[in-house]
Amino acid sequence: MAFQKNFLWGGAVAAHQVEGGWNQGGKGISITDVMTAGTHTIPRKITDGVLEGEYYPNHEGINFYARYKEDIKLFAEMGFKCFRTSIAWTRIFPKGDENEPNEEGLQFYDDLFDELQKYGIEPVVTLSHFEMPYHLVKEYGGWRNRKLIDFFVRFSEVVMNRYKDKVKYWMTFNEINNQTIISNPIYAFTNSGVIYDEEEDKLEVMYQAVHHELVASAKVVKLGHNINPDFKIGCMVAALPNYPYTCNPNDVMKAFEADQEQLMFTDVHVRGHYPQRTLNIWKKNNFSIEITKEDKEILQEGTVDFIGCSYYLTNTLTADEDVERTGSDLAGGGDAVNNPYLKVSDWGWTIDPIGFRYYLNMMYSRYELPIFVVENGFGATDRVEEDGNIEDQNRIDYLASHIIEMKKAVEEDGVEVLGYTTWGCIDPISFTTGEMKKRYGFIYVDRENDGSGSLKRMKKKSFNWYKNVIATNGEEI
Ligand code: BG6
Repeated sequence: MAFQKNFLWGGAVAAHQVEGGWNQGGKGISITDVMTAGTHTIPRKITDGVLEGEYYPNHEGINFYARYKEDIKLFAEMGFKCFRTSIAWTRIFPKGDENEPNEEGLQFYDDLFDELQKYGIEPVVTLSHFEMPYHLVKEYGGWRNRKLIDFFVRFSEVVMNRYKDKVKYWMTFNEINNQTIISNPIYAFTNSGVIYDEEEDKLEVMYQAVHHELVASAKVVKLGHNINPDFKIGCMVAALPNYPYTCNPNDVMKAFEADQEQLMFTDVHVRGHYPQRTLNIWKKNNFSIEITKEDKEILQEGTVDFIGCSYYLTNTLTADEDVERTGSDLAGGGDAVNNPYLKVSDWGWTIDPIGFRYYLNMMYSRYELPIFVVENGFGATDRVEEDGNIEDQNRIDYLASHIIEMKKAVEEDGVEVLGYTTWGCIDPISFTTGEMKKRYGFIYVDRENDGSGSLKRMKKKSFNWYKNVIATNGEEI
């Protein structure tokens, strides 16, 4: 059997993409509450506060806030061993800089975790998944400000203490490496609550914000282990492996450098210090990144227990300026070129199951730490037939081909994988586009891009398929 007996099969969402109830239970305004809906050709807007006349799809989400019991029942029916979600910071600290938490918000997650426990489903919790309080953006400039470290540590301490007997698996910052794509403002905003000034050096600001997050993450790892030594606390990165377009050494070097840029994040999370290459880049560019002696110490002391990752796609790069750039900064980066060996989704994301095995190997051979695949999935439109059936065979094909490659990584290559949670196990609001029609779920939600629909839940064909994958512990795919 490839997968260990207690392999954590399940599904993943983030609070802001499903909960809704944006102003209920004492919740404050979060950064995604000021992001409008877009498409993969029309960018989401970041508005200056919540404005009249604008449409904000995350305000209602799929109303998981009110319907979580019904949804968890369906997850249990599929046999989920675990369920990954995030705690909306704004439910606990509505503005982020208060001293006392909001009891109603804490109670909501108590009830949610109890409901999971009822079915023996292990919660997997992300502390920061693109949903920091908007007040921290307006008042402090987001993570460019060192004060954010204390606010985040306070929030984490409160929730880790409160749920210390209910939650064992934690992750600090979701896809912390997205912000390396500085050409699209949504990444700096959703990762760090940063809005760049035109005159400033964006890269320098990005690295400073990242440094504050890495320090905060390390502090939380250390703190969490004190709160409960059984906690398993991980980082979370977006897998963005890069291929050279040709065997021209210039292409190879370009892909290698792009990989190193991404690996910097896990280098610090896992090894506890910055790679020399990053320090050289800062020096070469005259960046003055404030790093104290205490920061260096905490980075060493707060290294992670596992690597959480999302895997969707691979990028192909060339140094040759004459090759047409077909990539998009909503799909891994605008500098990417077409990979003739790969198909792409309707949203332009490459479909590359072997790249998944490649990435798992790359990470495991570098760090020798367990990997938790906390996102993988296929964003596509679904059609509800007249008889109510939803034949999402393309989603089954995508997931099956990826699970097969993950199995090879485990069985043949010896990679230690803790679990696998598909992204958007119930259709969520898309992060990059704010759309509803880019669906990921085994469970269909009756809601359209404009917010219309009954929010009724319906099982897709993939529902029973995944149920069987879990029941056979990945033997039947
Ligand atoms: C990851 C995020 O980037 O990919 C999720 O962690 C996101 O929040 C997912 O939803 C898929 O992206 P999208 O844009 O298709 O929703």
